Amino acid sequence: MKHYKIAVLAGDGIGPEITREALKVLKLIEERNDVSFELMPAAFGACAYFATGDAFPQATIDICDQADAILKGPIGLSHEESKKIPIDKQPERGALLPMRRRYNTYANFRPVSLPKALAHFSPLKAEIIGEGIDLVIVRELVGGLYFGQKESGINEQGLRYVKETLEYDELQIRRIMHQAFKLASKRRKLLHNIHKSNVLKSSVLWNEVMEEVAVEYPDVTVYNMLVDSAATALCLNPTQFDVMVMENMFGDILSDQGGGILGSLGLMPSACIGDDKAYYEPSHGSAPDIAGKNIANPYSMIGSVAMMLENSFDMADEAKNVWAAMQAVFSDGYSTADLSKAGSGVTMISTEQFGDKVVEKLKAMPK
Ligand code: NAD
Ligand code: IPM
Ligand code: MN
Repeated sequence: MKHYKIAVLAGDGIGPEITREALKVLKLIEERNDVSFELMPAAFGACAYFATGDAFPQATIDICDQADAILKGPIGLSHEESKKIPIDKQPERGALLPMRRRYNTYANFRPVSLPKALAHFSPLKAEIIGEGIDLVIVRELVGGLYFGQKESGINEQGLRYVKETLEYDELQIRRIMHQAFKLASKRRKLLHNIHKSNVLKSSVLWNEVMEEVAVEYPDVTVYNMLVDSAATALCLNPTQFDVMVMENMFGDILSDQGGGILGSLGLMPSACIGDDKAYYEPSHGSAPDIAGKNIANPYSMIGSVAMMLENSFDMADEAKNVWAAMQAVFSDGYSTADLSKAGSGVTMISTEQFGDKVVEKLKAMPK
């Protein structure tokens, strides 16, 4: 029997609620397969800061270091609540970015997917969705503005100033390009390279390296698109896209737009992959506005489990079954509050009910 250690970081806000449902699914996967999961819960985020003074405490680092994979809920507080924590200790700077850096999880895969049958979830017209949206944003996750040098203080005119630098070297670009091209090769063989080379020198280097890597993948067709134009295209013609590759900040913004065109950020899981370690998290945040109400959509977290099964545990078939089980719940006409607006014909269920229904569907599925 295979045995895997999973660090479980439930996080803040809706994190514990959606993690609970994801763990139900994981337990069923264990029962259905010759595999055992050792769950290692650990504090991470604002909750960890208030308990220990550190958003990524040493005890959590030790657990993550040992784990075969990390399942992470969203972290963070509302704008006002955040002010209770010193800036550098806040969960984003004090936990999330240090985790990405520690495990060098440079490749962030953010699928944006909506089958035709669920077009009613989207704010886009059915004719725009056509046969369905099915694209993956490949976001570089450990470079760019997020990790560049920073400086702040008082300048010569006596004004407060801050300087943040957008840095990439060719190695960082090359490795994310290989990830994107490999994924494109397995899919529709279309790669949209998103950049801003009309302004940013970093994008000029980005595009140069992309062209060098492209030579190794002659069957993949590359389209170059400026990031501002890509934002419009995602709304007007999302089905033209299959794999989109971009630097860290562009990927942050466009992936939330991806959630927008689907109808909810609750439909956005993700995988963050490094050479030696991977962690899995929803693309969205801790949703303080709906936390504790049992109404959050756990699809993003259960989908992150599916990505973990496929990428970390070589269980692609069960991953497919998890996706199918969630689609089956939607096809039966159920969803959480984010996707069941009045008059939509969708029956609203709670976070917990959604998890239970996914488990029910998965139980009924042959392996
Ligand atoms: P958010 O993603 O938490 O929420 C934006 C909107 O989407 C809200 O209306 C929220 O209710 C809704 N939403 C998000 N996830 C949902 C789900 N699963 N089901 C239903 N509705 C959902 O963004 P925000 O409010 O700007 O940020 C809140 C906090 O989250 C901030 O502290 C931010 O830094 C943090 N954050 C963390 C991560 C992460 O851990 N990777 C990602 C993004 C934001
Ligand atoms: C995300 C989040 C993070 C990011 C924040 C919380 C640091 O928005 O995972 O998309 O900007 O990368
Ligand atoms: Mn984001």
